[in-house]
Amino acid sequence: MKTTLKVESVTKSFDGVRVADSVSFSVESGQIAVIVGPSGSGKTTVLRCIAGFERPDSGTISMNEAVVSDTSTFVLPERRHVGYVPQEGALFPHLDVAGNVGFGLERSSDRDARIAECLDLVGMSGFERRRVDELSGGQQQRVALARALAPQPQLIVMDEPFSALDAAMRPEICADVVSALRAEGATAIIVTHDRIEALAVADRIAVMMNGSVMQYDDPVTLYRNPASDQVAAFLGDFYVEDGVARDGQVTTATGSFATGESELSGEVEVVRQTPQLRVFPSKQ
Ligand SMILES: Nc1ncnc2c1ncn2[C@@H]1O[C@H](COP(=O)(O)OP(=O)(O)OP(=O)(O)O)[C@@H](O)[C@H]1O
Ligand SMILES: [Mg+2]
Repeated sequence: MKTTLKVESVTKSFDGVRVADSVSFSVESGQIAVIVGPSGSGKTTVLRCIAGFERPDSGTISMNEAVVSDTSTFVLPERRHVGYVPQEGALFPHLDVAGNVGFGLERSSDRDARIAECLDLVGMSGFERRRVDELSGGQQQRVALARALAPQPQLIVMDEPFSALDAAMRPEICADVVSALRAEGATAIIVTHDRIEALAVADRIAVMMNGSVMQYDDPVTLYRNPASDQVAAFLGDFYVEDGVARDGQVTTATGSFATGESELSGEVEVVRQTPQLRVFPSKQ
């Protein structure tokens, strides 16, 4: 598969503090990579280096085999064709939905058709003339994604796109956004704090701590073989087992239970969060 993005030994310091420390990973065409890690571990900084809003002190970033950033080359953000969905304040408040989605598109006869197509992808057809401040948080996030998708960027990077949503609506919006990315065949990097979300959407997960990528693997390998105690502790009490899904039921070695996802069938991987068990002396 074609490698869309390659990050090699990228280092960036602010005020003498290394915020990204020799960060390396690559994302293949059509893959979704997720970066997880504690607050302040350098996730946003790495995304900003990829999008071209920060220049690394050293290291190389290439897209489709062409260097966009190293010690002698620095391609400006607008020339990188990266769709960037920032951590907050993603939309232009003075433009309506169509104005936002069409922002990066040239004036042409098929501009409106592309806007409509992208709104359809994110489940927001018919909202073209709506004002941005009349949308819910989740609708705004969908529009932000449609805007990033519209110019068919080489790569989409999203910085905690679901963090402003309440827990109840997060999984649904996340699933919609991911199916829109998959439908477009987009290559994407998503930063999240939510480990279950990372597992649900990622082809690859990078665990960042103190500016370093501690491990970069597919989700199942990560959970089965964490590279260090630190990574294991960060990922939490999850365990993975094989199962078989049929008619909304999954059967594993430890039992059978409802999945709520009736379209899943055949061999699956089941990730469980270990329930807390505490034992107290009897009160009697
Ligand atoms: N422009 C800047 N100038 C100085 N320090 C900065 C700058 N940008 C980031 N930092 C510092 O770099 C460190 C990493 O920041 P970064 O935003 O990359 O973390 P993060 O992993 O995205 O955190 P969060 O999960 O809270 O968003 C932090 O200590 C932050 O204060
Ligand atoms: Mg951040």
